[in-house]
Amino acid sequence: MKTTPTPSFMLEPAYEPLLSPNKDAGTSRDAIGLGQAAGQGLNTRHGTILTLEDISVSFDGFKALNDLNLYIGVGELRCIIGPNGAGKTTLMDVITGKTRPSHGKAWFGETLDLTQMSEVQIAQAGIGRKFQKPTVFEALSVFENLELAQKTDKSVWASLRARLSGEQQDRIAQVLDTIRLTTSMHRPAGLLSHGQKQFLEIGMLLVQDPQLLLLDEPVAGMTDAETEFTAELFKSLAGKHSLMVVEHDMGFVGTIADHVTVLHQGSVLAEGSLEEVQADERVIEVYLGR
Ligand SMILES: Nc1ncnc2c1ncn2[C@@H]1O[C@H](COP(=O)(O)OP(=O)(O)OP(=O)(O)O)[C@@H](O)[C@H]1O
Ligand SMILES: [Mg+2]
Repeated sequence: MKTTPTPSFMLEPAYEPLLSPNKDAGTSRDAIGLGQAAGQGLNTRHGTILTLEDISVSFDGFKALNDLNLYIGVGELRCIIGPNGAGKTTLMDVITGKTRPSHGKAWFGETLDLTQMSEVQIAQAGIGRKFQKPTVFEALSVFENLELAQKTDKSVWASLRARLSGEQQDRIAQVLDTIRLTTSMHRPAGLLSHGQKQFLEIGMLLVQDPQLLLLDEPVAGMTDAETEFTAELFKSLAGKHSLMVVEHDMGFVGTIADHVTVLHQGSVLAEGSLEEVQADERVIEVYLGR
């Protein structure tokens, strides 16, 4: 029997060569939670959105996290600081399911055991993560990046072809305004400044309405004006969302944080207001006083 080959234009184009998210973000769209809608109805009866207890992570015997305990309240804006290698990024890897702890408990709300969930399930449940380098799709417009992030369909091309509901369009318009990119919505994301790409990536998380946002060194490489805007943005997001921000820029931390956690050698060394932890002798010795 003779078979007719499918003409190439009828095949679904592969998106990898055209769209190149940064390598730090893992190999799939799932690694940055793209295409995942945030879950509704998270049970946070006791006002705690994230509970980490006795979390340890070992790499070939080296303890990157060591019996770490951390609690984040609903709507809180928490800053995590600490010297290089303290375990800050590893902590985010544990929360997002990228790294499994060797022991310990990790709960999202009252009922979701993060240690038993896949990265995709965790993103779907409402935890969004922003990596240090922007992970936007450069060949697509700002609007298309947001559209793609909002869709739950896995295929890039199917997502772009599908019609947006009025509600989805309103949410994108709202997010464009929040991240101050309304006038650039039709520009290819590749033409944005470094800071604008960072804002777009935050927007890509926001269209999914995550309850908890994890942001690793968000102001690295930003201009002073962009850093100032980021501070305003995060303060405006707190309350509606819970935020965990890892940052070395103490000026920035001082502007946004009411509660700071200092990590050192994989454990919590101190917690309190920035003034309190800055006055702590142990913190000065291992981190601030260097
Ligand atoms: N996959 C891995 N394999 C082996 N060691 C690792 C791995 N990931 C992290 N580490 C080690 O674990 C420790 C904690 O690393 P982590 O990246 O969490 O630190 P950090 O606090 O984010 O540092 P920085 O401020 O430099 O970003 C470091 O000593 C690091 O070398
Ligand atoms: Mg890090």
